[in-house]
Amino acid sequence: MKILLLGSNGQLGYEATRTLFCYGDLVAVDYPDIDFTKPDQVIKFIEEINPDLIYNAVAYTDVDKAEQETEKAMLVNCHTPGEVANYCKKNNVPLIHFSTDYVFDGQKKALYTEEDIPNPINVYGKSKFTGEQAIIESQCPHVIFRTSWVYSMRAGGFVKKVINWGQNNEELRIVDDQIGNPTWARMLAILSTLFVGNCDQNLDQFFSEKKGLYHLAGGGYASRFEWTKVIVENLPEEISSIVKSLIPAKTSNFPTPARRPLFSALDCLKFESTFNVKIPNWEKSTKLMLEN
Ligand SMILES: NC(=O)c1ccc[n+]([C@@H]2O[C@H](COP(=O)([O-])OP(=O)(O)OC[C@H]3O[C@@H](n4cnc5c(N)ncnc54)[C@H](OP(=O)(O)O)[C@@H]3O)[C@@H](O)[C@H]2O)c1
Repeated sequence: MKILLLGSNGQLGYEATRTLFCYGDLVAVDYPDIDFTKPDQVIKFIEEINPDLIYNAVAYTDVDKAEQETEKAMLVNCHTPGEVANYCKKNNVPLIHFSTDYVFDGQKKALYTEEDIPNPINVYGKSKFTGEQAIIESQCPHVIFRTSWVYSMRAGGFVKKVINWGQNNEELRIVDDQIGNPTWARMLAILSTLFVGNCDQNLDQFFSEKKGLYHLAGGGYASRFEWTKVIVENLPEEISSIVKSLIPAKTSNFPTPARRPLFSALDCLKFESTFNVKIPNWEKSTKLMLEN
C-alpha cells in the first residue's frame, strides 16, 4: 500500500511519519515540496504519487495571525483540502483529515459531541469548519478527526511555550478559564493510524463502514492553568526551580487578535467505542512526554 502523508514537519505529521511507515510504502512531504496555497500544484503532486491512502496533517494553525491572513488560512485549511477530497472521490482514495475543537463557540459549557452544531468564533475555526464541510460534501471515503490543544516537543505547541517561559521567568501567569483536552501529538498519531495497520487490504470496506467525523483528543480535560502546573512540576529541576509561582489569570487579562472558545473540551466516546480503545488521560500523557 502506498501512503501519502502531507505535512510531515508539523507536530502531528512528524509523529505520524513514525507510525505510518510501519504500514506501507510511505511518502512523507511538507512545504515547500507541497504548498497548500497552490491547490493545482498539490493535486498534480498527488497524481504523480498515485497513493492508496492520503493522511493530511497540513494546516494553517496560527490562530491569531489567521485573523489577518484570512485568505491564506482558507486556502490551506479549506480550499485545498476540498480539492484533495475531490481527487479522492474521483480516484476512490481514502482520506484521513484533522479538524479542531475551535469549530465550537464554547457556550455549551459541557463536553462537545459530534452531534453538536459548530459555531466558530475566529477565522481559524471557520476555515477548519468549512474544510470539514468541503470534505464531507465531496463524498470521498474519509475520516475526519477533530482534536484539541495538540502538543509535542516541536516548536509551536503549548508545552514548548511553557518550557521557554519557565526558563526565563520566576512568575508565570496562566489563564484558568480556557478549558480543553491537551493532546499529545504522538498519541494522536498512534490512535489515528491504528486502523490502517489493522485493515490491511480492506481499506475500502473500512472506509465505507466507518466513514465520518470523530472527536479524538487527550482523555479528560483541564484548564491551561491546571495543565501548566503539571508541566512545570515535571520539568527538569534546573527549569522547574526557576519558576517560583504560578498565578491563575483570566483570558480577558491577555487580549489577543482572535477570540477563543473558553470551554471547548471534546467528548471522544464515539471514537473509543468504534475503535475499541480507551484514550489515555491528558495528565499521564503529559508526564510521559516530558520524560523523553
Ligand atoms: N496545534 C493545536 O493545538 C491543534 C488544536 C486542534 C486541532 N489541530 C489540528 O491538528 C492538525 C495537526 O496540527 P499540528 O499542531 O500538527 O499543526 P502544525 O504543527 O502547525 O503543523 C502543520 C503543518 O502544516 C504545514 N503547512 C502550513 N502551511 C502550509 C502550506 N501552505 N503548504 C504546505 N504545508 C503547510 C506546516 O509547515 P511549516 O512548519 O513549514 O509551516 C506544518 O508542517 C491540524 O489539522 C490542526 O488544525 C491542532
